[in-house]
Amino acid sequence: MRHSHSAAEPTTRQLLDPVPQEGDNGLFTMSWYPICLSTEVATGQIIGRDFLDGRVIVMRGQDGTAQVMSAYCPHMGADLSVGDMIGDTVRCAYHHWRYERNGACTATASGDPVPRNARLFTFPTTERFGVVWAFNGHEPLFALPDLPYPDSELLMRSEIHPETLNLDPWIICCQVPDNQHHRVVHGMQFTGDPLDDITWGDYSLLYDMNAVKNGQPLSFTMGSIGTTMFLQHGTMDGRWMGFIAGFAMPRPGTCQIYFIAMVRACEGDDQENKKFMDRVMEFEMGTLIEDAPIFNSIHFRPGTPSGSDRALVLYLDFLREYPRGHPAAEYIR
Ligand SMILES: [Fe+2]
Repeated sequence: MRHSHSAAEPTTRQLLDPVPQEGDNGLFTMSWYPICLSTEVATGQIIGRDFLDGRVIVMRGQDGTAQVMSAYCPHMGADLSVGDMIGDTVRCAYHHWRYERNGACTATASGDPVPRNARLFTFPTTERFGVVWAFNGHEPLFALPDLPYPDSELLMRSEIHPETLNLDPWIICCQVPDNQHHRVVHGMQFTGDPLDDITWGDYSLLYDMNAVKNGQPLSFTMGSIGTTMFLQHGTMDGRWMGFIAGFAMPRPGTCQIYFIAMVRACEGDDQENKKFMDRVMEFEMGTLIEDAPIFNSIHFRPGTPSGSDRALVLYLDFLREYPRGHPAAEYIR
């Protein structure tokens, strides 16, 4: 039978307002981004990384503190990651100008007075969970999340997933408040809707989920922090586990995932702790494998939500209003 349009079949699509993509109008969501693993930059070293729409360095001075700064020397644009650490200063390879961790140029090799505008952009930097993080902003709007136990009581393992995914990090955050996705892709069975009871922060959401997956009971607190972090902690196999996925953005429209698994040292001996850590990593890697084909091909476009999408629709509003900026634009590009 020939198909024809009727009044019940609209010929124009009605879409929800879009969420701005990273880099739209030169702006990026203001959040904590992973830059490198702590182990990738030793004392007295500098490394370079692509970040947002530009490049940064991570330097670690003699005091052991890491600092993320713009990568290009303001003198003539050399990449400082091929320079050297001299004490606590970064020395440019090109003309041996020197920079302190506050971004100030303190010396030229020629003896010329330092030009007034010769400085680097310094990102708010923090090092935690085995990762160096930079905040896209002059000042952080929020802190990295705390787990229910002090970091000092936790064993942590941090790894970078080798595959860079082709999507903005916040699109991954959208699965956290996505009831339908948890059920059909990750096989989580739950009664009621755990997403009816979300604790919204200015820059985060948290909720508790009691679910069964493959016959196994899971009890987790789930969260999305900023636009770059998934948080999960609770009970699996009768033990406490914690997990953070941090979403780096080497370029707009890409995401590199940092896997951070945590177990409590006091709950087992070395052997048991290592085995359970493997189990946590395997569980989370399994989740990513379930998601990867979707994440790598999605043309994210909020269009026609249905009843189960209540929380996701609220989250899309949260994302539309999320602060965006790019104070380092003039320095890192
Ligand atoms: Fe997923």
